[in-house]
Amino acid sequence: MSTQVTEQEQEAEETVEEAVSETETEAVGAARAAQVDYGYMEEKAEQEVRDAETTVKLKVFRYDPEVKGKQEPRFDTFTVPFHKGMTVLDALMYARDHYDSSLTFRHSCRQAVCGSDALFVNGRQRLGCKTQLADLKDSDGPPGTVTIEPLPHSDVVKDLVVDMQHFYDQMEAVEPYFQTDDYPKGELEEQRQSRENREKIKMSTRCIWCSACMSSCNIAAGDNEYLGPAAINKAYRFAMDEREGESQKQRRLEIIEQEHGVWRCQTQFSCTEVCPKDIPLTEHIQELKREAVKSNLKFW
Ligand code: FES
Repeated sequence: MSTQVTEQEQEAEETVEEAVSETETEAVGAARAAQVDYGYMEEKAEQEVRDAETTVKLKVFRYDPEVKGKQEPRFDTFTVPFHKGMTVLDALMYARDHYDSSLTFRHSCRQAVCGSDALFVNGRQRLGCKTQLADLKDSDGPPGTVTIEPLPHSDVVKDLVVDMQHFYDQMEAVEPYFQTDDYPKGELEEQRQSRENREKIKMSTRCIWCSACMSSCNIAAGDNEYLGPAAINKAYRFAMDEREGESQKQRRLEIIEQEHGVWRCQTQFSCTEVCPKDIPLTEHIQELKREAVKSNLKFW
């Protein structure tokens, strides 16, 4: 019995060893194949750069706290062939796919909807997918150089990726969801909104949570507890929605009136200038200030 068990164990061990060695061989093979592909892609890029009528140099911020030798922030330069209609995100993807697969940045929709690729391009917050390379003026670099950095005033996780947690916390603080005490009476009855009211809040609903405004705001940079333009705009979107009702509006005004709320805004307009969805953020903040004052007026 015990001899049988030993034989079985030995067989099992051999099978495992074979499987491991097969897996290792496959892994090594895949790595080699990837290397070959990677080399091929780089050669292809060099050829495309030589053939291209115009090229663009990307000066990209790099930082990887987890890899030895890459912990010091630095800039890497990639030359990419330019074509009409090329966006900053297209160029970054070209650099990643042809030169350095470890180049890290966020993106998803590629049509200015998801808000994940807000970057600091030539000294200004912009969405990578919405920014045409052709529209960029040269900054301090040589002609054709575009400098791409992560959003300022945020902790960098890796390369162009920043930690968005603080921004999400500020958004969460204003309860960014519809709340009402006044439900329709019938089960299938719609909660109707007037055209005028819809028009009033229309722009505020366009926020895509990209954090470009927050990153551009000097006040937010100096006061970590400041709600920030995006969160206040979100509060505006609901406070001004007639379907929420007066008591909810009052409650929302109390949230944004707090010490680190609307009164911190110094009307610098930087948020409005960089918003990729053209939301008049400063105007919304000012309007909420007026609403807050009105709601606190007492007539004896
Ligand atoms: Fe979604 Fe740019 S990738 S906003």
